[in-house]
Amino acid sequence: MAKNTLSFVCQNCGAAYNRWQGKCESCGEWNTLAEEDATGSVPVSIRSKRKGRTFALESLSGKTQDAPRLSSGMTELDRVTGGGFVRGSVLLVGGDPGIGKSTLLTQATSLMARAGHRIVYISGEEAVAQVRLRAERLGLSDAPVQLAAETSVEDIVSTLSEGAVPRLIVIDSIQTMWTDTVESAPGTVTQVRASAQALIRFAKKTGAAIILVGHVTKDGQIAGPRVVEHMVDAVLSFEGEGSQQFRILRAVKNRFGPTDEIGVFEMTGLGLREVTNPSELFLSERDLGTPGTAVFAGIEGTRPLLVELQALVAPTSLGTPRRAVVGWDPSRLSMVLAVLEAHCGVKLSGHDVYLNVAGGLRIHEPAADLAAAAALVSSLVNAQLPTDAVYFGEISLSGVVRPVAQTPVRLKEAAKLGFQRAVLPESARGEASGDAGLSLNAINSLTTLVAEIAARGSRRGDSSAPAEKNATPARFRRGEG
Ligand code: TYD
Ligand code: MG
Repeated sequence: MAKNTLSFVCQNCGAAYNRWQGKCESCGEWNTLAEEDATGSVPVSIRSKRKGRTFALESLSGKTQDAPRLSSGMTELDRVTGGGFVRGSVLLVGGDPGIGKSTLLTQATSLMARAGHRIVYISGEEAVAQVRLRAERLGLSDAPVQLAAETSVEDIVSTLSEGAVPRLIVIDSIQTMWTDTVESAPGTVTQVRASAQALIRFAKKTGAAIILVGHVTKDGQIAGPRVVEHMVDAVLSFEGEGSQQFRILRAVKNRFGPTDEIGVFEMTGLGLREVTNPSELFLSERDLGTPGTAVFAGIEGTRPLLVELQALVAPTSLGTPRRAVVGWDPSRLSMVLAVLEAHCGVKLSGHDVYLNVAGGLRIHEPAADLAAAAALVSSLVNAQLPTDAVYFGEISLSGVVRPVAQTPVRLKEAAKLGFQRAVLPESARGEASGDAGLSLNAINSLTTLVAEIAARGSRRGDSSAPAEKNATPARFRRGEG
């Protein structure tokens, strides 16, 4: 007997429960469960009781057509996708509302349409007039992009099935799409999943590439596009701090390319500008001569990236001192602080600690440990680090500075941007030999770095900051650890 079963589906992660509860046990989010028709989670077309048809099985060695790619006309976007959009692939572009997803895709689609491809842009959020207004602002009104404001997946698929197959279709956004095959309201996990499934089927069948735009919301009110992440070929995330003009496009998943490349853009009054040399940009507004800043020589994908880490260490008035970090992993910060306390005699338990990665970048590399430690100690002892030095190296729990990959690439970029010295792991010195003109300060243990910075601090204290003279030595319990 067919029974209409209802279930409660988490709008954040898609886990289903047969009764309502406040917290989703699967992802830990609160108030994300919504009632949905359980049978509806599979589109009607798939649920039919027909007997399965037979299909031919293939061998691994068969000749497969090389995936031909469509270049977006934007170098930074192509870098992240791995060289362009693959035929028949579906890509999800996620990001906070207002970060610039529609702007990025309007620019890219215009360039591709101008290059002579059939490109369709379906907006489920904005009226045609609004999309036109944006294109006008970007100076792209003349691009032959085919535009529509539609939300019904069936209508979209029927329309696009006519005439030449579009080379690329943008669906902005997947949360606004709905399909007749399921009964849930638009924006629910079930609708998002079923709509995405229908569009993915269309892409695979026709060979058109599809870009799905997905808003990521933290409160879980709108279904997170997370539920479609495993269905699509690639997931790109568009990140940035709202107040900063820099935007980073990062591949989170990519079946046809690398996942560690980033594309860097700058939001201007005339749309997104590609940033081909990000180091220059991230260092362009450096606070030269301020204690607590260190330049980290990092790597993002295949590209070196120099970025400034800023630390503030200040006496706390709270029982439990504050630890706040923007752009870096908080548990990594805790680890570096613990190593500084345990092995280098740096007392931080009475201090609030703030760490910020300049420019709104997010760093994922452990190689940033050394630069973070340098910035922290520099702020604590109020001693400015040399402005012409870069830092990189991983710190182990025992306080040893461990080697990291791609030392020569990091040093080359630093030299290119006019840096004179590098503080790096001792064990990387061999790799670095013969690298252009940088004086290398290879260190083996974090204690060495702390002692060097402390020495700068007391020198400075003697001459210019008498108040520091008494404060500095007391903060170090040398000889321990
Ligand atoms: P939008 O692409 O609409 O964001 P999303 O689709 O991710 O929600 O971009 C919105 C923001 O970008 C908005 O705050 C205005 C800003 N913006 C510019 O600064 N310059 C521009 O040329 C454009 C088109 C937008
Ligand atoms: Mg938008």
